[in-house]
Amino acid sequence: MAHGLADDPASTVLLASTAQILVAPAMNTAMWENPATVSNMDLLRSRGVFQVGPGEGELACGDFGAGRMVEPPEILEAINIALGSSGALEGLHALVTAGPTHEPIDPVRYLANRSSGKQGFAVAAALAAEGARTTLITGPCALLDPPGIEVVRVETAEEMLAAVLKVLPADIAVCAAAVADWRIDHRHSMKIKKHAGQQPTISLIENPDILATLSATSDSRPALIIGFAAETDKLVENATDKRRRKGCDWIVANDVSLKSGVFGGDTNTVHLITHEGSEAWPTMTKVEVARSLVHRIANHFDPRRV
Ligand code: PMT
Repeated sequence: MAHGLADDPASTVLLASTAQILVAPAMNTAMWENPATVSNMDLLRSRGVFQVGPGEGELACGDFGAGRMVEPPEILEAINIALGSSGALEGLHALVTAGPTHEPIDPVRYLANRSSGKQGFAVAAALAAEGARTTLITGPCALLDPPGIEVVRVETAEEMLAAVLKVLPADIAVCAAAVADWRIDHRHSMKIKKHAGQQPTISLIENPDILATLSATSDSRPALIIGFAAETDKLVENATDKRRRKGCDWIVANDVSLKSGVFGGDTNTVHLITHEGSEAWPTMTKVEVARSLVHRIANHFDPRRV
């Protein structure tokens, strides 16, 4: 496709078509990571071809890794975005944060967490599929830019806050990023050297709270601000308290204890907490959680259209 070869019906149609093209690549991991595939995909993207996936997991050949075909509902969502289909959130601007933040210790080391970005990226895709102009601000992660979404990549919590404030005004904000609560007090400009028998000490200072800052913005506060609460105990109690303290409208509470596999995994079991109380949702894929949340968001903005 990248080289204009048209020697079968599919590649001939692609070459002859003037329509918006969306590809959903699926192949063995080694094929997907081959430099030939990487540069062909770069070329196609630079020509405006939309891409969804591939996912990661067990492959048809029995290998495990990147290259799995994304699920049909995700492809459908990407088609809706590529076609600019009108949805319930048409005309609204949504801002989403995703992924971890990295807080540098020195030029080679950093403080981080296990967030993969999957939940935040899924929320951004679901918002865009409903017609919202969507800006996704993400910390370092391996996920590809979703089609039809403006993606801003940052490293630290301070950079994420600056990027969030820069894209305002927004009507909807969903803060799914796992922002580091602390950063290194004194970032070393040179690599900290190892000296036998000596342990370096690092001290931490508090990072700005992006969700709380956004919620306290007086002139350009988004009409609906949703946080995510990552809890390992007293899920609903702690998350309810967090919603109040941070001043957001809703909070999605998820159990992130190691046994839950939420960080990096594909499923999530959440409670939606609003001023009306808490609602337990069944275990779903992160894409389904995102879609259910966006359905509620659309209903909040215009109950007649959902
Ligand atoms: O990325 P995945 O692997 O898919 O995993 C998804 C997830 C578990 C990271 C996601 O579902 C989630 O729970 N995100 C929020 C993680 C988090 O930082 O939770 P918290 O309880 O520490 O923070 C509560 C809220 O405050 C969050 O909306 C967070 O974005 C925000 N926050 C936190 C600290 C800070 N300095 N600034 C913030 O804005």
